[in-house]
Amino acid sequence: MKERLQKYMARAGIASRRHSEEIIAAGRVKVNGAVVREPGAKIEPGHDVVTVDNKTAKVEKKVYILLNKPSGYVTTLKDPQGRPVVTDLSKEIPQRVYPVGRLDYSTEGLLLLTNDGRLAYALTHPRHEIQKIYHALVKGVPSIEKINQMKKGIDLSDGTTAPARVRIIGKQMGDTLLEIGIHEGKNRQVRRMCEHIGHPVLQLKRVKIGNLTLHGLSKGRHRHLTHQEIKQLTTMALPKSKY
Ligand code: URA
Repeated sequence: MKERLQKYMARAGIASRRHSEEIIAAGRVKVNGAVVREPGAKIEPGHDVVTVDNKTAKVEKKVYILLNKPSGYVTTLKDPQGRPVVTDLSKEIPQRVYPVGRLDYSTEGLLLLTNDGRLAYALTHPRHEIQKIYHALVKGVPSIEKINQMKKGIDLSDGTTAPARVRIIGKQMGDTLLEIGIHEGKNRQVRRMCEHIGHPVLQLKRVKIGNLTLHGLSKGRHRHLTHQEIKQLTTMALPKSKY
């Protein structure tokens, strides 16, 4: 199906549609080797070769990976200290994917990796209120008052946390397993919330993001999201989009 050149350029990550129109008008874009300046020009993706400043503009297939991160991996593409990074676990994926948000080095669990920058941005934006659920094993047994404090909001150095869902789901040899649901992504938020109430985290695992769970995915393994999952996530994160 034919597509407007500026839309194709936007999908290829060159610039916004509007800015792409300016780039076209400036004569920087060629289609099959010939400069195209008309704003309404259409191309056939996958067939016509589009270059901008003589560099090929390619639309990469969008991929969405769900990883069960083990502890001992850094959520980045390259670690200056040479520690293992999360993308080491998805090396056979040909596209360059980026982690959505961050899990600490010693946090385990659900991490999304994608090359869809728009969805990644929307998912991490607190305005969209995508719920993330963590299981935190904390030292000792927090009182109801302390749990209520976490539910209401905790004053951290970078602001007060939004209301959270918190409940006790288990006890382990004098320590407590909490289920904590938040929709913000402040740095080390869960650890700092628990520290603040005097019950530091001993182990932390993210078990859910929106509708996605770790179900059936063992530690260190990953899988592609299903079409249905991508659709649900997109609707949640980009409710008014034309996806
Ligand atoms: N909160 C934390 O404290 N650490 C994480 O890795 C994720 C959320």
